[in-house]
Amino acid sequence: MIYSRITGTGSYLPERIMPNSELTTMVDTSDEWIQSRTGIKQRHIARADESTCDMGAVAATRALQSAGLEPNQLDLVLFATSTPDQIFPSTACLLQRQLEITNGCPAFDVQAVCSGFVYGLTIADKFIKSGSAKNVLLIGADCLSKIVDWTDRSTCVLFGDGAGAVVLQASTEPGVYSTVLHANGAYANMLEVPCGVSKPGEERFIKMQGSDVFKFAVAAMDELVEEVLVTSAMQKSDLDWLIPHQANQRIITATAKKLNMPMSKVIMTVEEHGNTSAASIPLAMDTGIRDGRVKPGQLLLLEAIGGGFAWGAVLVRY
Ligand code: COA
Repeated sequence: MIYSRITGTGSYLPERIMPNSELTTMVDTSDEWIQSRTGIKQRHIARADESTCDMGAVAATRALQSAGLEPNQLDLVLFATSTPDQIFPSTACLLQRQLEITNGCPAFDVQAVCSGFVYGLTIADKFIKSGSAKNVLLIGADCLSKIVDWTDRSTCVLFGDGAGAVVLQASTEPGVYSTVLHANGAYANMLEVPCGVSKPGEERFIKMQGSDVFKFAVAAMDELVEEVLVTSAMQKSDLDWLIPHQANQRIITATAKKLNMPMSKVIMTVEEHGNTSAASIPLAMDTGIRDGRVKPGQLLLLEAIGGGFAWGAVLVRY
């Protein structure tokens, strides 16, 4: 049996921090409102000349270093993002150029918004399990500050920029046990940037029906965590850590409650960087691993939901 094992992690947050107090000078809001509704205290904002690929490259380099792998030993590069540097080539190919990966390995982007990382992990796992790849680099990175309407208080307080990355390698030891993915495009207009290339539309900003997204997210995560446990024949009590998409403290708390997990078993970083979309799970995972909370051999449940709606979960032994 071949498993995909996480053998390296890395992350990156831009230097500039925007605390809630700065937002109060831009829109009619308060630190108390933001923290009580979302748990967010601050977000990081990329420089004007700093791209999604630039952030991803730092996280990827750190993940490769922690795995002890050279860039040219990779045989697949996946880049989960909904804020690519260019329409094409893919951000994954731009990252290959930046990291000087010249061995010809395949590289492509995964667009599943905030679920991009769990979608990417699923693809990586299938490449490894099928024997098509042994060493995979998966990056989740987003530069949402460039698609936030900084005059819209209902969205601008929620999002930030960042990147995370993992190296997955083929192993006879577990590993990813199971992955579950879902999507339902009927909900497309609840969370969207309604502007593109083939269908030019409104301005290029995030639009969201916040309370409907909230209700759907809580219900979907409830069902999803049950499903991934059943698929892997695991019990709630087997879990060591919940590492959720970092969108909102209240959604995370509801999922932890469903799993009977105390918050001391949840890696939560949303207060430090807000919702960084595809970057949020690998950012939280890297934080938990580097500060020593997440230890080798422990069972991790990763889950996310985002625009689409697209949602998914992965159960993995670290
Ligand atoms: N500061 C102060 N007041 C704000 C505000 C802000 N930043 N944003 C909205 N409000 C106001 C609204 O205008 C509304 O005022 P009204 O009652 O006078 O009309 C009031 O707060 C309540 O708005 P509502 O949208 O119902 O608040 P909420 O309790 O649902 O919280 C969210 C809003 C966005 C925090 C919450 O809906 C949420 O977290 N949704 C999920 C978002 C998410 O995670 N998206 C990404 C998924 S990947």
